[in-house]
Amino acid sequence: MRMKMNLSLALLSVLFQISIATASRTFRTTLDMLHAKLVPSFLFWPQREELRLSMPMIFRQTYPRCVCIIDCFEIFIEKPKDLEARAQTYSTYKHHHTMKYLIGISPQGTVIFISKGWGGRTSDKRVTENSGFLECISAGDVILADRGFNVAESISLCNAELNIPAFTKGRKQLSPVELESIRGLASVRIHVERVIGETRNRYTILQSTIGIQMCEAEHPKGLTVLDKIVHVCCALTNVAPSIIPSG
Ligand SMILES: *[C@@H]1O[C@H](CO)[C@@H](O)[C@H](O)[C@H]1NC(C)=O
Repeated sequence: MRMKMNLSLALLSVLFQISIATASRTFRTTLDMLHAKLVPSFLFWPQREELRLSMPMIFRQTYPRCVCIIDCFEIFIEKPKDLEARAQTYSTYKHHHTMKYLIGISPQGTVIFISKGWGGRTSDKRVTENSGFLECISAGDVILADRGFNVAESISLCNAELNIPAFTKGRKQLSPVELESIRGLASVRIHVERVIGETRNRYTILQSTIGIQMCEAEHPKGLTVLDKIVHVCCALTNVAPSIIPSG
C-alpha cells in the first residue's frame, strides 16, 4: 500500500490503528525482507546462452548481440538541508532535486541491472562507470544507449561495443544505412522507456517527491530506503508478464 498506492505512513497508521513509528518500522523491516528475497531471485544479469535463445525477433534482425539497453531515470526528492547534498542532487535536466538510477533492460524486456541512487547532478557517464555495470559486460556484447551516454570508450575496454544513434545534428542528409540504424535503435529503445514507465505507474510512490530521510544510507556505502524501494519495484515488474512480444 505504501509503494503501490503511495499511502502515507500517517494514513497507514490510522488504517491499521498503529502509531506512525510502528508503521514506519513495519514498512522498513518488510522492505528489507522483500529486498533480500526478491532482488536476488528476480533481478539478475542472465547467462549469454539464455539471452540468445529467447531473443525477440526485432533484435535478431537488428542487434543480435545486444545484451542490454541502458538508460538513466530520475526520481524527485525534497530539497536537502545540507548545502553540498543540495548541489549534488540538483538535476539541471529536470530542474529539481533528484536521485538518478542507471537501469539496464534485456532485449526480452526484463530489468537486469539497477544501480544505487546517485545525486541528480551526476553525469550518466559517471554513473555508468562507477555503478558496477561495466563488470557485468563480456567480450562481444553490444550495449544500446541514447545520445549523451558517452561511455563508448569504457565499454570498448571491456571488448564490447556501445551502439548509439548516429549524430544527426548539422548534417544535411543521412545515408540509407544510417537512417535504418536510427530507426532500428529508436524502436528497441522504446522498450526501456516502457519498462520505466510501467514501473512508475505500478508503484506510484516512484512518481512522488521522496522525503530526504529516505535518501540517506545508514552506512556510507549502504543502500538507502529509496534504493531498496526502487530495486524491489523493478524486481516485481520483472515478475509481471513481459511487455515485449517474442514473435
Ligand atoms: C504521494 O503522497 C504524497 C503525500 O503523502 C503526496 O504529496 C504526493 O503528491 C503523492 N504522489 C502521487 C503520485 O500520488
